[in-house]
Parts: sequence; C-alpha cells; structure tokens
Amino acid sequence: MVITQRRHSKIIPVAGGKGGVGKTEITAALGLRLGQLGYRVVMIDLDLGGSNLHSTLAIKNRNPGLGNYFSDRSLAFETLVSPTPYDNVFFVPGDVLVAGMPNLTFAQKKSLLKHVENLDADYVLLDLGSGASNNVVDFFLVSNSGLVVSSPHVGSILNAYSFLKNAAYRFLQRAFAKDKEITAYLRKRVRERIPGKPTRMTDLIDGMAEVNTEQAAKARRFVNLLQPSLVLNHVRSVDDLNIAESLRELVSKNVDIYLQNLGAVAFHDGLASTYRTTSPPVLAEPGGLFAAQIDRLAQKIVQSPEFPTLALDTNMYEDSYALTRIELQYDQANAQQTAPSDGAISESDAEEFLQVMAQQRKQIQELQGTVRMLTMRGPG
Ligand SMILES: Nc1ncnc2c1ncn2[C@@H]1O[C@H](COP(=O)(O)OP(=O)(O)O)[C@@H](O)[C@H]1O
Ligand SMILES: [Mg+2]
Repeated sequence: MVITQRRHSKIIPVAGGKGGVGKTEITAALGLRLGQLGYRVVMIDLDLGGSNLHSTLAIKNRNPGLGNYFSDRSLAFETLVSPTPYDNVFFVPGDVLVAGMPNLTFAQKKSLLKHVENLDADYVLLDLGSGASNNVVDFFLVSNSGLVVSSPHVGSILNAYSFLKNAAYRFLQRAFAKDKEITAYLRKRVRERIPGKPTRMTDLIDGMAEVNTEQAAKARRFVNLLQPSLVLNHVRSVDDLNIAESLRELVSKNVDIYLQNLGAVAFHDGLASTYRTTSPPVLAEPGGLFAAQIDRLAQKIVQSPEFPTLALDTNMYEDSYALTRIELQYDQANAQQTAPSDGAISESDAEEFLQVMAQQRKQIQELQGTVRMLTMRGPG
C-alpha cells in the first residue's frame, strides 16, 4: 500500500460490497465536483464486468478502455486517459468495448496500479465493482484513503462490514506473503473459522505473536494504516445514521479499524434512472440538496491536507458521525423551510411569504456556512 499523502496525486478507491448502493454515482458526482473546484481529476472505471461509470457521467464510451488494454498488449495505458466534456475531469473507461477479464492476475493488477500511481492528477478516483473478491479488495488497498459506500439497509451495512474484514485480512496476507510461517498461520486461522463466531483482528494478531512477536507488532502497525471512510447513501432520515454508528462499532471491535464518516447523501428522486443522456445532477442542479451534500464530501477531502485523516474541529462535536448528524439536521430543517405550502394564498400574501422564505433560506445558508467554517480547520 502507498500512503498517498506524500505523493502528487491522491488515489481514492470507492468500494462497498453491495451492488446498487451508489458507488458509481458517488464516484462520478465527487469527481465532477472536485473538477469544478479546480482540481485535476482522473476517474477510472475498474468495475470490470459491470462498467457503467461512463453512462453515469453521461458520456458515450467510444474510446478504448481497460478491457482493450488487457487484451491488447501493444496499447499504452496513457492512451486510455480521455478528456470529458467537464473541465479538469478525465476518464479511463472500463471494459465496455471489450468485455471480460474479470479475473486479473496479481501481476496484471500490479502493473496497472503502477500506471495509476503515475497519473498526472490531484485526485484519482477508482470506481470499483461490488463484492469482496480479491480483485476488488486489491484495488481498494492501493491506498489507505478508500471510501466505503453503503445504504442504511441492514444487508448493505453487513456487506460493508464483510468487505472491510476481507480487506484487512487480505492486507495482512499480502504484507506477509514472503513469510512462510505467518502465511501458514493465517491460512490455518481461516480454515479453523467457526461459523457465527467471528475472529477478532486483535485475537488474530495475538495468535501471530506466538509465531513471531516482531511480525505481530508489524501487523498491528499495518492494520492501523487502514483509514477507510464511510459514505452513507440513500439516506431518508437523520436516524439512518444510527446503523452507520453500529457499523463503526462492529468494525472497531472485530476488525480493529476506525471507520470514520465522510458524510451522508440523501435519496434523490432525480437519480433513479440508470442511463443518463443529460448532464449529471451534481452539475445540472447546482443549488440542489444532492449537489450540496456531494460538495461537503469534496470539501472534507480537499480541506484535509492529510486526507484520509480528516481535519475536523472536534471541539464542536464528538466525531465525524456527529458532524454528519448536524449536517443532516440542517438539511432536514432546510427542506421543511422550503417545502411548498398548500392552500390558496393571495398574491400579496404570496409575495410576503416568498420574502420571508428567501430570508429564512439566507439565514440557513449562513448557518450552514458557519457550520462548515467551524467544522473544518482550514489548510495550515
Ligand atoms: N442517493 C441516491 N438517490 C437515488 N438514487 C440513487 C442514489 N445513489 C445512487 N442512486 C441510483 O441507484 C442506482 C445504483 O447506483 P450505482 O451508483 O450504479 O450503484 P453501484 O455502483 O454501487 O452498483 C443508479 O440508478 C443510481 O442512479
Ligand atoms: Mg457501480
């Protein structure tokens, strides 16, 4: 794994276990917003077998992508990076033109990732496939800045949990691949797994210490490097955060990883179609809630020079979940303020009402601005 903060570009893989939770939608919207903010962004469609980032970006995919790259050795990776209609945003297509290649060898993945690390960009977003196969997990582990997208549904939350468990285990397995003793120990622990009784990461590493104390200490340091962030999507109420907090507890207890919260994105009616021909909603509806919530995710990233370590002012709230709760409460209050009223009103009443509404809107915007200022420690 590369700790990306020392490098030129920050690689942000987006995974989540379950399909349909919005990994591609969040990747696309976040990438477009980062581009709007003036950062050079490359988005890579790594959902081989299910590539659809291009349609989410409302781009017709005519350029060769990773499918072509893996089937034609003469194709240079650099030629896959195509411009998009959006300022500062570049795109590497998946395997739409040449389908297949879902099972890449480790050597293929490694060589691909070398090219990805050398891309000239501020942010490289990797849209990953569903599930927790080695393919997905290996791409997720390319940096410690991965995002895990989940909806508040139990199934999706459990998928996110399994994904993080697999990722941490795979990380250790890869880190100690050259150590025969540790490799044998890890294999044995998997074989002896008792269904319904989770192996805790701390127990796994304690057991490792009986094989080799030094390597166990190293394993502990390695696991601490993982700093994934949760994006809760398809949110319908502030209470949806409760299940995200349960996930944080579960991951902390059994995987020994702290899963921070990058933010929440509400269910948005305008997104429900799978194929898009018009501009993506984050650009088409810049004043909408979706754009505002995506902007928060982007701001937390760009205003945290050490991302994935978030620059939060925890004097104002307990942790990143409490901040997201405050943000959702503001959104809810805002939605109530701007909800269309029913019943007839006279023209002058309507005008007065509109004025009051505009005033309230302004106040809420100011409040939101204040919250953002208070919550983010600016760079430096
Ligand atoms: N916040 C949201 N509100 C409403 N629909 C959403 C939201 N996020 C994603 N979707 C829709 O859900 C579907 C699946 O999203 P997608 O990003 O393709 O999921 P994944 O990549 O995780 O499989 C798409 O049609 C997408 O537009
Ligand atoms: Mg997807």
